[in-house]
Amino acid sequence: MPCNSNRLRIKQIVVVCGLSLLASLGLCDRVVAQAPDPAGHSAAVTRSPLTDPAIEKRVDALLQKMTLEEKVGQLTQYSSGAPTGPSTGNADYPDMIARGEVGSLINLDSARAANLYQHIAVDKTRLHIPLLFGLDVIHGFRTTFPVPLALASTWDPSIVEKTARIAAQESSAAGVRWVFSPMVDIARDPRWGRIVEGAGEDPYLDSMMARAYVRGYQGTNLSDKESVAACVKHFVGYGAVEAGRDYNAAEISEHTLREVYLPPFSAAIREGSASLMSSFNTINGLPATANPFTLTQILRKEWEFPGLVVSDWSSVGELVAHGIARDKGVAAQKAMSAGVDMDMVSDSYHQHLADLVKSGKVSQARLDAAVRDVLRVKFALGLFDHPFTDESREIQGALPREHVEAARQAAERSFVLLKNSMAGSRPILPLTGESGTIALIGPLADSSQNMLGPWAGRGRPEDVVTLKTALEQRVGTEKIRFARGGEVQTASDAEIQTAVAAAQQADVVLLALGEEAATQSGEAASRAHLNLPGRQEELLEKVTATGKPVVLLLFSGRPLTLHWAFEHVPAIVAAWFPGIQAGPALVRVLFGDVPPSGKLVVSWPRTMGQIPLYYNALNTGRPAGDFDLTRPPKTSLEKYVSRYVDEQNSPQFPFGFGLSYSSPEYSRTHVDSAKLSASDSAIHATASASVRNTGNRAVDEIVQLYVRLTGTSMEEPVRKLVGFKRISLAPGESQTVSFPLGAEDFSLWDIRNKLSVEPSHVQIWISPDSSRGVPAELEIVE
Ligand code: NOJ
Repeated sequence: MPCNSNRLRIKQIVVVCGLSLLASLGLCDRVVAQAPDPAGHSAAVTRSPLTDPAIEKRVDALLQKMTLEEKVGQLTQYSSGAPTGPSTGNADYPDMIARGEVGSLINLDSARAANLYQHIAVDKTRLHIPLLFGLDVIHGFRTTFPVPLALASTWDPSIVEKTARIAAQESSAAGVRWVFSPMVDIARDPRWGRIVEGAGEDPYLDSMMARAYVRGYQGTNLSDKESVAACVKHFVGYGAVEAGRDYNAAEISEHTLREVYLPPFSAAIREGSASLMSSFNTINGLPATANPFTLTQILRKEWEFPGLVVSDWSSVGELVAHGIARDKGVAAQKAMSAGVDMDMVSDSYHQHLADLVKSGKVSQARLDAAVRDVLRVKFALGLFDHPFTDESREIQGALPREHVEAARQAAERSFVLLKNSMAGSRPILPLTGESGTIALIGPLADSSQNMLGPWAGRGRPEDVVTLKTALEQRVGTEKIRFARGGEVQTASDAEIQTAVAAAQQADVVLLALGEEAATQSGEAASRAHLNLPGRQEELLEKVTATGKPVVLLLFSGRPLTLHWAFEHVPAIVAAWFPGIQAGPALVRVLFGDVPPSGKLVVSWPRTMGQIPLYYNALNTGRPAGDFDLTRPPKTSLEKYVSRYVDEQNSPQFPFGFGLSYSSPEYSRTHVDSAKLSASDSAIHATASASVRNTGNRAVDEIVQLYVRLTGTSMEEPVRKLVGFKRISLAPGESQTVSFPLGAEDFSLWDIRNKLSVEPSHVQIWISPDSSRGVPAELEIVE
């Protein structure tokens, strides 16, 4: 069983060999700071709050006393509160809880309500087992931070950890000790609305962010009253749903699963994530919620995950609609046997599991293992010892200043400056005190609700400071001409004309356009058109036609294909959905108090036809190389390559891209070894480059490390990210940035689907994004 802590420890020793050992000894900088297991490869749990022998003893003792029905109760979760999926209404929870038929409730969010239910569970049930309250706390509880895609664009795990810690403090104060986050689904398709909930397209970056969330939520002690159990989701392949349509099927080879989709899960689990959620989608024809290969073989056997596996909302019952279960009884049998411990709201376990065990269709051992997984988390959270929440901890009035500060800081670092053309002798941004009259236009310039973004926990619009408010505070109302220009999805001719007139009267225009957070981004919000909704593009074109310097601020949960804008609008910022401090953060960046420093974590497509589009693609046998793809092919050499005849292959902006107000210049990459041996377990090299700020403003630069392996048994991507560092450079300052490279950076899932270092040729780039730089090279020999 995975709960055998001795076995876990033994595996641990094997896993920490090589660089990770150096890391654990504090001898290897990058590994300590960024990831002992960047790609989250094959490793078992290295740090888990669930592997305590004392907890295991208590679990054993309790399990022995439980009846079959009480065991099933622990595996049953219902929703009490606003439903977050298709719902047929609430049942009679107090009675069910008193009978020991419920182990967990989702969607409760006040300490008072939690305590009320907890009293029923603790005071009235035979064994006094406390309930576990879970909630979707995705980018904050009440303090709403930027959406996760934006948080990832900071490339700053420390700020992500901080936001998660604050979310844990606020959630736990409301009785919520279990958050359904982080979402670590790799997403290569911006049509999928849930791309906003993750960290983008790269396994390494996603793994770093996953680990930061887990550290923040769970803290150093899960039983601390301010800590909450993380739930890494959605296992697995949900981000690969075909055509970007939510809940759709995914086809992913085992190789790609291991190289791309699994690493962030493995990383979160190695960081100690106490739970995991199975996903809605099928993978290669088998629904993820009934998939023994992923849920048992990989998760339990290979990774030795000791935590709790919960299904996604109703996904056990949905096995019927998938067509692999005749009824909910068969659905329960399949999900349970595959490895799902707890049934989120589908009622299938509650109705059928006891009979399935009695008839031998689900084994007693499997049932007990699932109950252990639930109890282990409850014990580790300290719920048996402190089941109730101190209601006075709940934030009633204004948010604490440090929480607001953290929200502002995170937002400031998340904005990605995409374009900044010259207006006369200087770039449009940053604005200065002398920028004159500002026309502030657009439906998102003063929209509190939209700034919160989708899945905004218990965020409140009244906590939001909009761009309009912050700008007024900065320059005074007399300098601002505000015109909404309509709503996100509709506008009248008059509204557009008023907005154009406002632009004509101004010296500079700030145009706040984008998506509607609640309906066009997030779950069940896939889009087949990645444009600006409503009449916003018309508004944009008319305002730009005034000839005034226009800064387009894009609020969205995904990249939008705005080819015209990227050609004609002089300055563009991807602002995402920035959270409660949207306005102050934007104003500080627009006026240059802090430099823009976010970089893209998704490739930004030119057009829909390029999707899926991602930087870490395979080269193919007929790469387009340096051919000019802006025109149709003229020769057979240009024609018979992997290309479009009517569009370039390259994205509008590559993964890793983001401008600043200055110009960081990179030297060539240098690597200190020319040859390494694949059989050397301590295989190691150092790559370095110097970065110089040649401009006259300070810069916060995200320096990225990429590798490409060739000569390998399987085809490897044209580049893959294996490290990054955020550095600050004063004007004229230069810094040498070094990265240690080790086995994990040179390894791949080989032709046998084993993780190995093979003899290969390695190219190494230290570069400002995924498309630039000249590589250093080294050989890995036998
Ligand atoms: C469905 C979503 O897919 C999942 O992310 C969420 O945690 C559950 N609903 C619960 O709300």
